[in-house]
Amino acid sequence: MSAISPPAERLWWKHPIDRVEGMWIGIAFVWSMVMFFMMVYWHMYGGQNLSTETYKTTPEQFTVKAQAMVDQYTVRTEVDGQYPVVAPPVGSDVYMIARLWNFWPILQLEKGQTYRLHLTSLDYNHGFSLQPANINIQIVPGYEHVVTVTPNQSGTYSVVCNEYCGIGHHTMVGRIYVK
Ligand code: CUA
Repeated sequence: MSAISPPAERLWWKHPIDRVEGMWIGIAFVWSMVMFFMMVYWHMYGGQNLSTETYKTTPEQFTVKAQAMVDQYTVRTEVDGQYPVVAPPVGSDVYMIARLWNFWPILQLEKGQTYRLHLTSLDYNHGFSLQPANINIQIVPGYEHVVTVTPNQSGTYSVVCNEYCGIGHHTMVGRIYVK
């Protein structure tokens, strides 16, 4: 019999299960369970797997909150005054906007302190890839993603967009300083 001709017994699901077939189904089931519980494990112990809360928002609502933070806590500007560097109080809500084609503003956080980082996109789908920590989440317009972060190493982090978002995608980078 070839794969081209129809099977002699058409009701294949009524045949008794073959020993090897059953074994593979068993292996696949056990492995799927391992992978499932790894999700729970990494949620609690995996430093790179951030769990996000997500709320509905609009560009206007989010911009008001981000602008209020920038107005209050900007410490200097970079790139010819185009980007405010914002050092918000420890433990506060901090905001970053993704849009064609940048992340705004630049954040300056303190090592070992916890912040609630709010992210949204003003236009299309963007990615938030934090390097070199290799943290990845998606930023979806219309939604406010909230990540609780505790930077554990000081340095300069790059935020890279990892969702293709048009002609300027490759230039879409942002920055977070950890002191
Ligand atoms: Cu934003 Cu790619």
